[in-house]
Amino acid sequence: MKDRFVSGRELDEETYRHLLANRGRLPDPMRYRKGMTYRAAGRSGLRLPEVSLGLWQNFGSVDSFEIMRDTLYTAFDNGICHFDLANDYGPRSGSAEENFGRILKEGLAPYRDEMCISTKAGYPMWEGPYGDGGSKKYLTASLDQSLRRMGLDYVDIFYHHRPDPATPIEETCLALHGIVMQGKALYVGISNYSRAQTEAAIAVFRELKTPFVLNQVRYNLLDRHIEEDGLPAYAEREGFGLAVYSPLEQGLLTDRYANGVPADSRMHKTKTLKEDLLTPAMLQRLGRLREFAAGRGQTLSALALSWVLRQKAVATVIIGASSSAQVLENMQVDPNFTEEEVRAVEEILR
Ligand SMILES: NC(=O)c1ccc[n+]([C@@H]2O[C@H](COP(=O)([O-])OP(=O)(O)OC[C@H]3O[C@@H](n4cnc5c(N)ncnc54)[C@H](OP(=O)(O)O)[C@@H]3O)[C@@H](O)[C@H]2O)c1
Repeated sequence: MKDRFVSGRELDEETYRHLLANRGRLPDPMRYRKGMTYRAAGRSGLRLPEVSLGLWQNFGSVDSFEIMRDTLYTAFDNGICHFDLANDYGPRSGSAEENFGRILKEGLAPYRDEMCISTKAGYPMWEGPYGDGGSKKYLTASLDQSLRRMGLDYVDIFYHHRPDPATPIEETCLALHGIVMQGKALYVGISNYSRAQTEAAIAVFRELKTPFVLNQVRYNLLDRHIEEDGLPAYAEREGFGLAVYSPLEQGLLTDRYANGVPADSRMHKTKTLKEDLLTPAMLQRLGRLREFAAGRGQTLSALALSWVLRQKAVATVIIGASSSAQVLENMQVDPNFTEEEVRAVEEILR
């Protein structure tokens, strides 16, 4: 370490000593010179790496702390400075935030100003009427818990995780706005909102002048429902970004299942990716996509991410990863498709 300056400020003695003690674990000084591209989140000043890391799985209390720390450092070492969490990520719910907080505390905390950290509330988190939904009561209490688990004063983006028809949209939006006013989040987002639900939220955010920047949605080569809903074009017109989750269809759009179902894979270990997806027709389609990717000099996963990033409205793709090697492979994106390439992919998907 050349000097005591990190993220533009001088470190105090204690932090400096702590960092030196972890010398083997210092972030790579070349991290912003490794080719990562940063995109604006809609018409805002917030820029996100094209590839972000999500902590939904592989960062829970059941997972190896050494592997998750290694994966996260590899991401940060390569310009991935956006980390996506939620109150219930684990399992156990809350443990991904705790582990992330521990990684910060043990080494990365001095780099907080170089990170965009998001969390969410919206799915069941605790029992009783205030641990689920979209009420001001739930969102406010949940964010306070998340901040404590991560050891943070604020998050960069706080999302409502899913629409709640039982709560007036005005209340949910006002709660998010209030959280920004209190300084507990810098920007807000919504997640899994359809185009019509987004329109309703935007009407309130506009009135309040809330820094609403992102709708986080599921989108990939095999799930194009947001295109049918017209969300990408609507996002471009209205000036918010799309943060895309499960861009690899939880690993289906990679080489993970090219030769069966490995014992350490998500399909084997969890219930979120079902084995019955591996039909002969699906395997054949994946094989054709893999072949096409090779023609572009890419792996299937890099092709899948590039294809999502070709949409201008997409601010970032949020990948999951169970190893550093996966992170490195997933950085090899090239979203510039020729018309011929787009036609060829469409033909395979038909
Ligand atoms: N807003 C929401 O409702 C919502 C919902 C879901 C997710 N999310 C966010 O989106 C993030 C990503 O979701 P996701 O984990 O489903 O994303 P994904 O990128 O589609 O899937 C990640 C999984 O794919 C496999 N994988 C990734 N790269 C690979 C590679 N190069 N080669 C082989 N296998 C590879 C790994 O599976 P193995 O574990 O088998 O190695 C990894 O755990 C989450 O962490 C979360 O932050 C948000």
